[in-house]
This record gives sequence, structure tokens and C-alpha cells, in this order.
Amino acid sequence: MRKQIAAANWKMNKTIEEGIALVKEIINADIKLNKNNEVLFSVPFPYLSTIKDLISSNGYMFVAAQNCHHKKNGAYTGEVSVEMLKSIGIEYCLVGHSERREYFAESNQVIAQKVDLCLELGITPVFCCGEPLEIRDLLSQNQYVSNQLNESLFHLSTEDIKKVIIAYEPIWAIGTGRTASSDQAQEMHAHIRSVLISKYSFEVAEDISILYGGSVKGANANELFSMQDVDGGLVGGASLVASEFIQVIQALK
Ligand code: 13P
Repeated sequence: MRKQIAAANWKMNKTIEEGIALVKEIINADIKLNKNNEVLFSVPFPYLSTIKDLISSNGYMFVAAQNCHHKKNGAYTGEVSVEMLKSIGIEYCLVGHSERREYFAESNQVIAQKVDLCLELGITPVFCCGEPLEIRDLLSQNQYVSNQLNESLFHLSTEDIKKVIIAYEPIWAIGTGRTASSDQAQEMHAHIRSVLISKYSFEVAEDISILYGGSVKGANANELFSMQDVDGGLVGGASLVASEFIQVIQALK
């Protein structure tokens, strides 16, 4: 049974004091979870160890890095390697977020290298994909996302693809308050799963969690997460407010 996941993405927000206070409020909330539920906090690099220590006694919460470099190590001033993340006990890493693609020119090929390095070192990549508005307007979103999967993930073996979490984040829904409707989300998630079935198998596709991201908040999480192929969410703005993110966690199937 695939995991249902509420993943926070703080992006470049919060001081460490604010971050600690936010996580404490969430830990102390009386949240009822199922056995297959997981909560991730994708926090800025300098906070990874602190937030990890804060949640370490808690079996269903984990920290994630928001990015990693695509080379193993070397003269890349200011960058953070997968090996560094591994050495401080990080188990998850976002890869290919649309903001990385847009502002840091990350290509599908570079993202494939990041996925490979994460898997090599036993870190679960949370692979982000999703189309910009002009592609949606052309009704080409399925083909666009298939291409992202094809160029960054489909070189993986059956064993490795099963270790990946996919997050579908339509760019037009990120930070805009304009959420995809639950039907639009379901349609794309079903498409992603069907592509996984064709490339791998039904059993493999059924095991992979596909999260939805783009203006998820307390008020819409229930409806989005109730869709058959939506296995939780990757949440930006609403994950910065404890009461909102708690509602999102509680909406997990
Ligand atoms: P918002 O929830 O703020 O739209 O951001 C979504 C996102 O990019 C999560 O990675």
C-alpha cells in the first residue's frame, strides 16, 4: 500500500526560531494518522539537523532537503552534495522543483543526475514535475509531463523507480491561490500512473506515491486528497502556518 504524504516546502522562508516554533506546534497537535501516513518538512539547508533532532523521536515525521547538487563533490562553491546530506542523516530530498528549473535553469538531464545520486546514497528523491500555463492552455500538459518523467526518471530500474516519490505541481497553481481542481489533479495523476504502468508495471505504479502541489491549504486538502490517485500534497505557503498544515496532514487518506 503506497504512502500518503503531507510534505511541507518552506522554500526560503522562516528564521530558525520561527521554524522551531512552527514544528513544535505541529508535533504537539493531536493529529490522528494512519499507519501509511508520513509528514515531511523540506526546510532550508542550515535548519536540517535542528529540525531533524526536533522530530527524531517521532516515527512518521522526516526532514527533506529542498535541493542537492548534481555532482558528487568538488569545486562548486556554495553548493550542497547528496553525500553531505547523507552524512547528517537526511533521508529525503526534493529534486527538480519548478523554481529550481526556472530560476536556476535545471534541465531534465541535470535533474536525472540528482535523482541518480540520491538513489545511489539511499536518499529518497521527491521528483517534482508539472507544466507552465501556456502548455496547459495548449492542452499539451500530459505530453509535457510524460517528457519530464521520460527524461529524468525512466532510465531507472524497476527496483529504483519504486523508491521515488513523484510530486505533480502545475506551475500555474504554485503560489497563485489558483489550485487545480480535484478533477484536474486526478486526471494528471491518473495519467502519470498510466505512464508508469506502460514503462514498468501495474504493481510498480500502484506502489508509487504521487503528491499534488499548488496552493494546497486546509480548506481544499480534503477534496484533493480524496481523489483516487492523489496520495497527499507538497505544500508551500500553507505549510508556513501551523493550523493550516495541521489541517492538511489531517486530510491524508
Ligand atoms: P504553494 O503551496 O505556495 O502554492 O507552493 C507549492 C509548492 O511549490 C510546493 O513545493
